[in-house]
Amino acid sequence: MTLLNKFMTLLAITALVGCGESKKKEENKGFEYEQPSNDAGTAEAPDLEPISNTVTITGNDLMKYNKKEIKVKAGEKVTLTLKHVGKLDKQVMGHNWVLLKKGVDLVDFATEAQTAVDNGYIPEGTDDVIAHTKMLGGGESDTIEFEAPEPGTYQFLCSFPGHYGVMQGEFIVED
Ligand code: CO
Repeated sequence: MTLLNKFMTLLAITALVGCGESKKKEENKGFEYEQPSNDAGTAEAPDLEPISNTVTITGNDLMKYNKKEIKVKAGEKVTLTLKHVGKLDKQVMGHNWVLLKKGVDLVDFATEAQTAVDNGYIPEGTDDVIAHTKMLGGGESDTIEFEAPEPGTYQFLCSFPGHYGVMQGEFIVED
């Protein structure tokens, strides 16, 4: 065998092996197709967290809660802590956490609440609220306890004037 022949044989073997490999990849495609749904599952991992009735939610100086959704178990007490992790005064960037009863219109409530300046922006004697924290400024926090309402989806908001548009979310009570 000449050197050239040896080289050509080597090339042929390499090509064959290469073919084999690409064939294997082809066969594995079935598995690779499963990946996207697995990835989506991973992306939704926060939803798979065990439900706890001890909840912490934060509000910041950018007028945002860190949660759009809170899930709790029915028939158990809920311990909820709101932390204002910003620095701004409560006159400027006040945050509270207000859980509305079912059927209460969030915009109607927020509109009424913004005139209740002397009551921490909670309408005095209101029957619309299941529970609420105090109005907080930067660095403050408040913890409240209440019985989880019946299973279903409720709405929560910050009732500081103008905040409800961004600072609102769903409170889901699971059976
Ligand atoms: Co607020």
